[in-house]
Amino acid sequence: MKTIIEPFRIKAVEPIRMTTREERVKLIRDADYNLFALQSDDVLIDLLTDSGTGAMSAAQWAAIMRGDESYAGSPSFYRFEAAVKDLMPFKHVIPTHQGRAAEAILFSILGGQGRRIPNNTHFDTTRGNIEASGAEAVDLVIDEGRDPRSTHPFKGNMDLDRLRAFLADNHGSVPCVMMTITNNAGGGQPVSLENLRAVAAIAREFDKPFIIDGCRFAENAWFIREREPGQGERGIRAIVRDCFEVADAMTMSAKKDAFGNIGGWLALNDDDMAEAARATLIRTEGFPTYGGMAGRDLEALAQGLAEIVDEHYLRYRIRTNAYVVERLDALGVPVVRPAGGHAVFVDARAWLPHIDPLAYPGQALAVALYEVGGIRGCEIGTVMFGRHPAGTETPAAMDLVRLAFPRRTYTQSHADYLIEVFEEVARVKDGLPGYRITWEPALMRHFTCRFERVEAGAGQGA
Ligand code: F0G
Repeated sequence: MKTIIEPFRIKAVEPIRMTTREERVKLIRDADYNLFALQSDDVLIDLLTDSGTGAMSAAQWAAIMRGDESYAGSPSFYRFEAAVKDLMPFKHVIPTHQGRAAEAILFSILGGQGRRIPNNTHFDTTRGNIEASGAEAVDLVIDEGRDPRSTHPFKGNMDLDRLRAFLADNHGSVPCVMMTITNNAGGGQPVSLENLRAVAAIAREFDKPFIIDGCRFAENAWFIREREPGQGERGIRAIVRDCFEVADAMTMSAKKDAFGNIGGWLALNDDDMAEAARATLIRTEGFPTYGGMAGRDLEALAQGLAEIVDEHYLRYRIRTNAYVVERLDALGVPVVRPAGGHAVFVDARAWLPHIDPLAYPGQALAVALYEVGGIRGCEIGTVMFGRHPAGTETPAAMDLVRLAFPRRTYTQSHADYLIEVFEEVARVKDGLPGYRITWEPALMRHFTCRFERVEAGAGQGA
């Protein structure tokens, strides 16, 4: 059959509050054109993030009732720990409330002034935690990973030559080598097993621990199975184990590929590092058998980990993105290709060339998608990255809009509706206005800044 159906049926529904275009035009104006300021029930299809927004299964909700909330030694922790170790064979598993809490603990140990940490591309919170410790976050993804039009099958791969040169030049100041699978900040692009193994070997050669940010490990394993020579007949679980077997530690946001609404962990092999991490955990998150989570969360994650490696789920999951990318491509909308694992990225700068980068074409497209169709995406461009600590502003490398798909939450008709919204935006796109920021905070302005509309050609600095 050529139609890949959602491999589930729906037992509990969340009604979508329907709004009209007129209502949305007013709602987004009242939100000062910042999509983060909208109330989520004013959104028809919420593609702001895939984090924590997925649907849990009946088995996960049932497991929640088993949650044991004992302060110490809860059986829910041991079920969670066994489920993690079944896929990721690390000696110590340290539960945290989110991925960024695991990062904060890790870099309280490995970070510090003068240190430099390489990754394919650091996610924002990883970078934030590294920089907060005084260290520097360095991105060494392959060149194809920075080119929206390259169709390389593993655009998340590390540039091995640059990694080797970087380690040779900075040997004394590098505490570890990291890899993010899939590479979220680089379009959700996968990393091959071959590249993971090569990076691990280089790290070992320079005697550095190798750490995987594993948020979307199952999606990455599916891409390995689909695209890497010799992997096509293998089970997802076996591929996942191969990925983590070569690592010394991992950080995880359980809000992604563990089907959780909340949760995370730090897992590692080194006993001394685990002891230091647990000491910080007790001070900042909680006792080591619950960390930052309730017992019921641990149960939901244990069940979620068993479900995420299901190949029927992964086939449907990855196909959803590819379907949207193919349809948008056919419409002439410039999209990052090939499709990534969890999101579709639209090149707003290329599609709205009449809007100066400093008048935020990504924001212009994100607002238009909301007004026209009630879709909420996220600008990943000059609004997010354009402001510098010195107070200057320059265009970001790209002006993208990310449409991230929550897991098991929307159906194909939602995807078809999204395409129709793009058809309508295509009709009006040449008249879309640009934006100017009227107020912004000192840091991470995109979450809370306020905008007003300007003539399309006029950027702030133009
Ligand atoms: N690492 C990666 C690769 C991520 O994508 C995220 C979160 C984190 C770490 C942090 O995990 O949210 O549990 O603290 N990404 C979300 C997103 C927020 O929308 O891409 P967290």
